[in-house]
Amino acid sequence: MKIGSLTLSNTMALAPMAGVSDYPFRTICRDYGCQLAYSEMVSSEGLVRGGDKTISYLYKGKEEYDDGKIIGFQIFGSEPDVMAEAAEIVEGKGADIVDINMGCPVKKVTKTKSGSALLGDLPLLRKISSAVRKRIKVPFTVKIRAGWKDEVNAVEVAQILEDCGVDAVILHPRTQKEAFKGQAHWDLIKKVKENVKIPVIGNGDVVSIEDYHRMMSETSCNAVMIGRGAMGNPWIFKTLDDPSYQPTMDEMKRVILKHYRLSIEFYGKEKAVREMRKHLSWYTKGLSEGSLFRTRINTMTQSIDVIQEIETFFARQTEKTEA
Ligand SMILES: Cc1cc2nc3c(=O)[nH]c(=O)nc-3n(C[C@H](O)[C@H](O)[C@H](O)COP(=O)(O)O)c2cc1C
Repeated sequence: MKIGSLTLSNTMALAPMAGVSDYPFRTICRDYGCQLAYSEMVSSEGLVRGGDKTISYLYKGKEEYDDGKIIGFQIFGSEPDVMAEAAEIVEGKGADIVDINMGCPVKKVTKTKSGSALLGDLPLLRKISSAVRKRIKVPFTVKIRAGWKDEVNAVEVAQILEDCGVDAVILHPRTQKEAFKGQAHWDLIKKVKENVKIPVIGNGDVVSIEDYHRMMSETSCNAVMIGRGAMGNPWIFKTLDDPSYQPTMDEMKRVILKHYRLSIEFYGKEKAVREMRKHLSWYTKGLSEGSLFRTRINTMTQSIDVIQEIETFFARQTEKTEA
């Protein structure tokens, strides 16, 4: 599959997720074969103003330059000129793909006409997409939802985006009003795919390799994007080659400790303790005594204590599997 000039040999992508798809987590997913990964969304206004915190989201690690790895940096906003300038900044930071967020349903974003609110203003959506297209050379994708509020207009939106020179569209087929409720309407992915020539990346409720194959066959999408299904489960990317793959307890521990180390290097010790809590909760979901482990680490403030707790927890898991 191709996105503009880029060739994807692997059609399972990591979704942009604020607070999740940062450099440490992307690296862990890449260890399991993830080729295309998107960053957390970044404010175009923040980028253009040059805020250090905003810029820090645009980190591309050295592993992300290797082996055909592809990074998509995602921006959001509603001013065509600002979005074009932000896209250029993002391109300069090494983005292989620039993506626009036209799917975020939360009020904080939509009240400024950004995210999914753009699906309700097609002239503005067109202006932004054309302005960004003119400004950047790298491939350009747009991530959309089924539609704004409870209206469904993804087919029309995808056709406008194609007309503006967008290289691929990513569809999470729930409306803004549905947020994350109910089931994603995969039939809409099929409909969009039938009505545009550019590649369509399907997204929504894929949590296993079986779901991946079902989405590919039911919708004929070109690739599948995985969000929540990768949380605490980065090895899902490996199931493409090895469908029954499950890490051993020992491997899980090594992965978690690597994730922790990367987080400390990236955020510093203090912030890493807070950032890693949610990941540790996801990693240990369903494991014996996981809830006790989570209660304990959620009160710890020193990374050294958390690391010790991880060691103890997994030593007990291994003992239990061997008993
Ligand atoms: C914690 C979280 C953060 C998210 N942040 C973003 C974001 O920054 N940009 C975006 O386009 N979508 C974001 N999403 C939506 C996901 O990319 C994806 O479209 C959605 O979760 C549906 O896919 P899934 O069922 O595989 O999770 C976020 C979702 C979650 C759960």
